[in-house]
Amino acid sequence: MTELLLKNVRPYGEGEPVDVLVRGTVIAEIGPGLTADDAEVIEGNGQILLPGFVDLHTHLREPGREDTETIETGSAAAALGGYTAVFAMANTSPVADSHVITDHVWRRGQEVGLVDVFPVGAVTVGLKGKQLAEMGTMAAGVGQVRMFSDDGHCVYDPLIMRRALEYANSLGVLIAQHAEEPRLTEGAVAHEGPTAARLGLAGWPRAAEESIVARDALLARDAGARVHICHASTAGTVELVKWAKSQGISITAEVTPHHLLLDDSRLETYDAVNKVNPPLREASDAAALRQALADGIIDCVATDHAPHAEQDKCCEFAVARPGMLGLETALSIIVQTMVAPGLLDWRGVAKVMSEKPAAIVGLDDHGRPIAVGEPANLTLVDPDAEWTVRGAELASISNNTPFEDMTFPAEVTATVLRGRVTAREGKAVGI
Ligand code: DOR
Ligand code: ZN
Repeated sequence: MTELLLKNVRPYGEGEPVDVLVRGTVIAEIGPGLTADDAEVIEGNGQILLPGFVDLHTHLREPGREDTETIETGSAAAALGGYTAVFAMANTSPVADSHVITDHVWRRGQEVGLVDVFPVGAVTVGLKGKQLAEMGTMAAGVGQVRMFSDDGHCVYDPLIMRRALEYANSLGVLIAQHAEEPRLTEGAVAHEGPTAARLGLAGWPRAAEESIVARDALLARDAGARVHICHASTAGTVELVKWAKSQGISITAEVTPHHLLLDDSRLETYDAVNKVNPPLREASDAAALRQALADGIIDCVATDHAPHAEQDKCCEFAVARPGMLGLETALSIIVQTMVAPGLLDWRGVAKVMSEKPAAIVGLDDHGRPIAVGEPANLTLVDPDAEWTVRGAELASISNNTPFEDMTFPAEVTATVLRGRVTAREGKAVGI
């Protein structure tokens, strides 16, 4: 059996450094001074060991836009970002609204072997919001779809959403909603507020998100179902999720690193690298989102990693596609926005980037404790490192990072998937 020995690592950043011996796919021993004759050794130098990260919201663009990202390049970006599991959204071309596509995504992810790629199935046929997709066959397929979303589009019709929640409930799967009332965002390209007004950009009001969050909380309540809110972006969404939880409604929510760090002052340059859906909001929204993540009102971080080709970004703001790269920068931004100001400790990082997202979708072998007998899905983080983001150096095919030339704290130095090193010192390690 292959062995991997992680020397001098600090699980959850706590206590004195220990050694962690992985045998096969499982953590076999934890303690000081471990040795193993034939083991691959990683010297941790006191770095922080966390459970491998889980991203509930990734766009890998395969099938259909392999010029911008593939399951292989996206998996490499994920491994480099410390992820051991990602959920690949359904807005591919063709749309992942049948098990033919979702099974392919799962199989291809396993073939690449850098990260577990869980396919997300579409809620409605073609993401059109009119007719429910065959969720049951996708859930029963090889890809075992456990999360459904029309992300990129909102399941706006309340009756379709109600049926989707009821159906999902009976299948034991999760509906993740891109909350955007489309009548309120027709032609919208930026957060509706003073900045967009001054710049002459059509506004996307907070109420377009919040009205759907409120509606879906009520629909979930009545269906006795669970609902997950994608990329929460406003202070009002935080208040609504807090209220719904206080009522015992089974609602969970994610926030992206870019909504925690950036705000709409970014739009001054008209550079469409800052265009994203939902849009960057005001600084007060970002502050409310950070506090809500610290308080557990928002459950987890999800990247909404959205690669786009140069020609789809380097054009007029109004016609550019929304979306930003996120997998390789997520940890550093969480450290900058949450750990550095004391809003989260490393246990908290493990919670919001690994344990909670895994629990939300019911993964058995991700987001597990770092303990003997547990699956060896692990991420090693150097908290003292600093690095400067360069889009061209990222593993993604696309370069659309809003963090170009920005310097951030903390770096993922190794990622381990079921006992196999998938990333080490900035390089993805193939099978
Ligand atoms: O900014 C976004 N980009 N938001 C979405 O909902 C979809 C995503 C994409 O697919 O590019
Ligand atoms: Zn979305």
